[in-house]
Amino acid sequence: MCGIVGYIGKKQAAPILLDGLSKLEYRGYDSAGIAVYNGEKINMSKAKGRLKVLSELTHDGATLPGMIGIGHTRWATHGAPSDVNSHPHFNETKSIAVVHNGIIENYIKIKKMLEGKGYKFVSETDTEVIAHLLDYYYNGNALEAVTKVMHRVEGSYALGILFAEEPDTLYAVRKDSPLIVGKSEEGNLIASDVPAVLKYTRDVYFIDNEEIAVIKEDSMKFFNIYEEELTKESTHIEWDVEAAEKGGYEHFMLKEVYEQPKAVADTLNPRLKDGKVVVEELNMTDEEIKAIKKIMIVACGSAYHTGVTAKYIFEGLSRIPVEVDVASEFRYRNPILDEGTLVLIISQSGETADSLAALRMAKEMGSKVLAIVNVVGSSIAREADSVIYTWAGPEIAVATTKAYSAQLVAHYLLAMKFAQVRGTVDDAEMETLVADLKRIPEQIEMLLGNREKIQKFANRYVAAKDVFFIGRGIDYAISLEGSLKLKEISYIHSEAYAAGELKHGTISLIEDGTLVVALLTQDELFKKTVSNVVEVKTRGAVVLSVTNAGNTDIEKNSDYTIYIPKTNKYFTNSLAVIPLQLFSYYIALGRGCDVDKPRNLAKSVTVE
Ligand code: G6P
Repeated sequence: MCGIVGYIGKKQAAPILLDGLSKLEYRGYDSAGIAVYNGEKINMSKAKGRLKVLSELTHDGATLPGMIGIGHTRWATHGAPSDVNSHPHFNETKSIAVVHNGIIENYIKIKKMLEGKGYKFVSETDTEVIAHLLDYYYNGNALEAVTKVMHRVEGSYALGILFAEEPDTLYAVRKDSPLIVGKSEEGNLIASDVPAVLKYTRDVYFIDNEEIAVIKEDSMKFFNIYEEELTKESTHIEWDVEAAEKGGYEHFMLKEVYEQPKAVADTLNPRLKDGKVVVEELNMTDEEIKAIKKIMIVACGSAYHTGVTAKYIFEGLSRIPVEVDVASEFRYRNPILDEGTLVLIISQSGETADSLAALRMAKEMGSKVLAIVNVVGSSIAREADSVIYTWAGPEIAVATTKAYSAQLVAHYLLAMKFAQVRGTVDDAEMETLVADLKRIPEQIEMLLGNREKIQKFANRYVAAKDVFFIGRGIDYAISLEGSLKLKEISYIHSEAYAAGELKHGTISLIEDGTLVVALLTQDELFKKTVSNVVEVKTRGAVVLSVTNAGNTDIEKNSDYTIYIPKTNKYFTNSLAVIPLQLFSYYIALGRGCDVDKPRNLAKSVTVE
């Protein structure tokens, strides 16, 4: 999704903007631009394509001198990726420049109104209406013009705005799209996400919905939409710059795959005390936990897949019925929720538009909302009734790995906590669960040590056209994630299927040489899935099996086998997903794909 950076201070703005934008590249984008005020007027450079095109065009920012500016990486929604549709956008006299993340839903109506008044539009974007509307309302008072625009537009927006007539002030506005302000000795910054400002400061302010930040070189003020001044506390960001850098790895994805033992341990350790699960942030009394009638898990993408796994675990351990839904479906299907339903929103970024909308809807319908979130201070974290943080640290690669793994263990902890309180698991079983849980980080480490074997296998299949992932129960949930990882970064068509469903259609697609990845980590379902493996083998499939150590029987029917260390049946996803992540990574690498920034995808999907 789009990335915004802005700077005002004592230094040249353009290099800082370009650097900040490079830290937001992970969000996904197709064009970039910057605008800088040079003491007389606002100058602008924009270019379709990667940020390096813009850096070359501006000689690393040297062609745009000045100490206040805004920058943007665009992920096209309205109007194709092109130089002219890139941000920033100007008003006609080029005295106002705007960068925007989000969607202005009523832009056509506003555009018609402005065209009726003689305004001329040059781009196909919804954003351009903001530049002209600001011009329309501007009467020497920028703050007033900004609030009038906010009252007029509908949709979601994070905005960075420059007024040539107020060259000592940077304006930042937010509604439903993330935006932060960073405060530093050498100037102040705005950005869509923390990594863009970390080089300069760790003290950030999170702008809330319908708030405006008015930022000068050495001060900042915050206002609501009625121009009333607000008091805001800054947040100190603990993680440092290195955490958001590649640190010697070829790609962020590989680095993050390798950070999984730590991400999992950091999420687990503070919540395991004396053989019991302690989740203080849960903020629920035992009575409240006992009163839960249903858990509704809502999320998008891989976070949704952790929810599919969690359903088996919550139901198995705590005997609470669970529904799982993708947020974009959930929010429009008039779901049945009440006080007895605990809604769980899962999100790495904490900014996914559909998940956030689902959260708000659930709260309105009277349910308690618990969020599992990675980004501290994000919208979902702030709006949920309680939040359990996954301590995975900043995740940059678009394809999630360590945040996914941290989400999985957060689910395990919650399910065990509920089981403890509801008495559905006895002490001896709880002790075994805790012991198994503690071993996961080192077991992941072991699997990572096997990467060469997986790399060799992946190298043979870089030309695969279709790959099917099959499994039953939790193995089906793992299949969903394995298949998504592969298709999102390698562009190979792939599907995940509940193994028992194969014969109802998909098996007709199996032919000589089709690659099938079979997940067999659930001992009580092992024989059933082996039958499905045999079915695809007899139709010519090449089978890669992922199963528990000791299940050597599978080798009769499988071309390649990867063994995962023994763990509790509920935790196998945490281990089986590791070879699948590596498999996708090496296939994508072999195909020459842009592993960290796959085409058309965004890290944080802040629009519907
Ligand atoms: C995007 C990312 C996925 C992620 C999904 C949900 O599609 O590419 O990796 O799983 O959004 O994101 P969230 O931040 O809510 O977990």
